[in-house]
Amino acid sequence: MPERVPVCSAPMRRDPHSFADDTQARTDSFALDARVDFATQTIHATVTLTFATPASGHLDLDTRDLAIDQITDAHGHALAFTVHPPEPHLGSRLAIDLAHETPAITIRYRTAPDASAMQWLAPAQTAGGVHPYVFTQCQAIHARSLVPLQDSPGYRVTYTATLTVPRALKVVMAAADRGRTENGDVAVHRWEMPQRIPPYLFAFAVGDLASRDLSPRSRVWAEPSVVEAAAWEFAMVEDHITAAESLFGPYDWERFDILIMPPSFPYGGMENPRLTFFSPTTIAGDRSLVSVMAHELAHSWTGNLVTNANAEHFWLNEGFTMYAERRITEATEGADAAALSAALGRRELEESITRFADRPEMTKLRPDLAGVDPDDCYSLIPYEKGYFFLAAIESVVGRSAFEAWLKTYLAAFRFGAITTEQFEAHLEAALPGALSKANARAWIDGVGIPEGAVPPKSAKLDAIEGLHGALPTANVSAAWTATEWNLYLESVPRPAPDATCRALDAQLTSSKNYDVLVAWLTLALQSGYHAVLPRVEQVVAEVGRMKYLRPMYTNLASDPRTRDLADQLFAKNRASYHPIARQMVEGVLAKPRA
Ligand code: BES
Ligand code: ZN
Repeated sequence: MPERVPVCSAPMRRDPHSFADDTQARTDSFALDARVDFATQTIHATVTLTFATPASGHLDLDTRDLAIDQITDAHGHALAFTVHPPEPHLGSRLAIDLAHETPAITIRYRTAPDASAMQWLAPAQTAGGVHPYVFTQCQAIHARSLVPLQDSPGYRVTYTATLTVPRALKVVMAAADRGRTENGDVAVHRWEMPQRIPPYLFAFAVGDLASRDLSPRSRVWAEPSVVEAAAWEFAMVEDHITAAESLFGPYDWERFDILIMPPSFPYGGMENPRLTFFSPTTIAGDRSLVSVMAHELAHSWTGNLVTNANAEHFWLNEGFTMYAERRITEATEGADAAALSAALGRRELEESITRFADRPEMTKLRPDLAGVDPDDCYSLIPYEKGYFFLAAIESVVGRSAFEAWLKTYLAAFRFGAITTEQFEAHLEAALPGALSKANARAWIDGVGIPEGAVPPKSAKLDAIEGLHGALPTANVSAAWTATEWNLYLESVPRPAPDATCRALDAQLTSSKNYDVLVAWLTLALQSGYHAVLPRVEQVVAEVGRMKYLRPMYTNLASDPRTRDLADQLFAKNRASYHPIARQMVEGVLAKPRA
């Protein structure tokens, strides 16, 4: 008797943020041919999705605000499809009827001017002021507004891309450069991504860009007026790559190029493989923010090689990366620097947990995110709670056993996407009992910070805590790093006396390190010290990084004296913010008035 094969099985969607269905065809690679049209802020594209094995039946793809013009099979036959109405946070399911078995399909489509993965900048919003600029940011679930695909990290793909752009502009992509041809007033630039990536790591930028080589495998790209300062700031990139390789194994992505973004980039950095994106705020002029580079570099192992299966397991990306970042810091700057960074992380963790007092379930390492937009619950909790969980495991088993396990973990799940349960099973098999000794259930499924978190130790930290918020003498503070300043500022009780504020004003309001500047401005606002308001206005006008916008708007909005100013500043700067940052500030300002 022939075996009975079910013709239609129940859907198997394993990612609450995707329509990708494990019972359907799996995309193996895509080939994108796209024309970037600045006049209409639209991408006109054709994409061919090639399946792992020839497929028939039904196929669901993720899309958001895409206009689908035509879908054909590998023979060029038109296929029937339906673009379903958008669902909150998810976008629209594109349902395709693969009438006959086909190895590939080709989709002709256009993106929307307000596609959530892109920000289109007018020349005035760039450093040079002459050319327009566009860049992408796909994590967590924005790739679907650029390309119709299975937008879930478990659906790794390789790809090729051909971008047609105005001849005056450069294209950079998180992929290998396969050459540029100029033709009349356009340029055609070809790219290939040989390493398999989750869709959220698809990334490119188009603008007036120049580059400097930093090492045989690293080069920095930026607008021409920024590139020298950027090259100086990131000059030690090769030392960091070498340090990371000796900790975590060979660097698997061939190149580690760096792109300095326009000021509206909403993050400090984004680990796009082969071409990491950095906020221009990382260029402090004194290399004091290289920890951001250490962080994004660390993602080359934790996140890009071993990837979270979906946003509910985001801590596997960011918690592991905080651990790896601090190991790189320890190797390049010493144990004190790493401990100070961890101590600051601890403060930030407590602060984030307080911020989520009305949504405590979001403070779980593994939250339930069905119906929740990943951008709306973004916080440092998966970063720092994840870090302290891993530090707790390390302290239970000892560093050498933990290191040995980490290497086997990275090797076992290389180029994969995993869940918290898979992490647990792997650790339990290698180091039986370690999870329960480290109180893993409380860390993973509990809210807040569990008992037994390992407190970071350093003499420098003790010295700062010994001040109890009193002003440091000039001798003492002259030797402080940005992290020490940050820790000190966090330790000052609110409201700080006027005399303290005046002294800090004189020292810090002109700081070029935004981490220090914003920590100070936050303290000033929380102390009712309004002499800093002009600087606060400047910061929210010149920077779009959410790490800085959030505390500025939150503190302006929570004081009745500056509440109207918060609304006015947002009205004035809204148009220049990235859509993700705009959504975040809107959320802050929507909170009821104090
Ligand atoms: N991958 C994140 C940025 C991100 C997270 C973008 C979630 C979209 C959704 C990146 O690696 C990151 O963590 N950036 C931090 C750097 C910091 C921790 C050094 C940032 O932007 O502040
Ligand atoms: Zn990160």
